[in-house]
Amino acid sequence: MAPLLDVPPGLEGVVAAETAVGDVLGDAGVFHYRGHSAPELARTASFEAVWHLLHHGTRPDPDTLRRFRADTAALRVLPPGLAEALPLIARSGPPMAALRTALSLAGQDARPWLDLAPEARAAQALRLVALTPVLAAAIWRARDGQPPVPPDPALGVAADFVRMATGATPDERAARAVEQYLILTVDHGFNASTFTARVVASTGADLTAAAVAGIAALSGPLHGGAPSLVVDMLRDIGTRDRVRPWLEAHLAAGRRVMGFGHRVYRTEDPRSAVLKATARAIGGPLVELAVDVEQVALEILDSRYPERRLRTNVEFYAGVVLHLVGLPPALFPATFAVSRMTGWMAHVLEQAAANRLIRPSARYVGPSWDRQDGSRDEGRDE
Ligand SMILES: CC(C)(COP(=O)(O)OP(=O)(O)OC[C@H]1O[C@@H](n2cnc3c(N)ncnc32)[C@H](O)[C@@H]1OP(=O)(O)O)[C@@H](O)C(=O)NCCC(=O)NCCS
Repeated sequence: MAPLLDVPPGLEGVVAAETAVGDVLGDAGVFHYRGHSAPELARTASFEAVWHLLHHGTRPDPDTLRRFRADTAALRVLPPGLAEALPLIARSGPPMAALRTALSLAGQDARPWLDLAPEARAAQALRLVALTPVLAAAIWRARDGQPPVPPDPALGVAADFVRMATGATPDERAARAVEQYLILTVDHGFNASTFTARVVASTGADLTAAAVAGIAALSGPLHGGAPSLVVDMLRDIGTRDRVRPWLEAHLAAGRRVMGFGHRVYRTEDPRSAVLKATARAIGGPLVELAVDVEQVALEILDSRYPERRLRTNVEFYAGVVLHLVGLPPALFPATFAVSRMTGWMAHVLEQAAANRLIRPSARYVGPSWDRQDGSRDEGRDE
């Protein structure tokens, strides 16, 4: 066996796989999907075009995109029998917990991918991405005892998700805002949920298992839970005259300002710049307040941590945009799952195409091994 290799806590900086799905260049403030600038895609492409890029490897021409939209819209259906179970599923916990349960019940063929041809795996991956917005929206409505809103295949994923969740078709600007958010969050390096989905896939398990594991990892507050906290903060600040005193008191109390700082980026998070422009295009008092908060927060954080270069991260304007289009904060993490399912499934297909079981080691630090003859292994005493 190869000698054990100690790596940093949290595997920070460790390369654990090869991927051609996308990359994050933290110092340069750049991230891309298969070589295409993700912020540029958010400005110019549709969600479905980005989905095609991730799953099929290329940006589609107009005809291919039309077919892909039609084919994937046909997969956007609530599985038979699930509607009756929704009230029970919705009561099983917060939307992310319920989404796990719903996906498990959704009736996808649960055979290990090892038993499937590559085409069958790819088809399952598309179906899981198509199903996620349907299930997330239906769960949300079931919490209030409302029946699901049936999907509308004529709409794109973003607009239909908002319609299925809120019951109202968003106007073009709101639909586009959500679409830009979805595009910007489909993939982002080897984050915890992507790694988790690949670990599960590496065992040969069925694709739903990998999808559910991805949701489980994303549900933690250190990963997918922050944007609703930004809305709470803005609500708490309330008016523009309270921005500076609120932030100063908040930081003096040793608290962090939500939506600032990042583990990888030392520049402005490129996702933030796009979402700020999106929020500004919608406009209104909340956006004006957010712009003020950002300006003052950056000024204060710069004077407190001149070395850290704490900048605005994706969560700040993501929270603002999702709130402006009428999505409830409790649904923000599940909205993140709607987009990230695209990335997880692209990674799972990549893992399956050149699989090796992911099976690291741990350095044992517990009591020493109790020998059968009653003596203890050297090193440690109880
Ligand atoms: C995102 C985050 C977890 C990154 O953490 P990190 O790179 O590990 O940063 P560190 O925890 O090493 O922080 C370094 C210093 O900057 C401070 N800092 C980092 N982000 C801060 C923030 N948003 N507000 C105030 N201070 C912050 C820390 O308190 C720490 O100061 P200290 O050395 O005096 O304790 C962190 O910036 C944070 O908690 N941000 C707020 C929550 C948020 O927006 N999450 C969404 C992330 S996409």
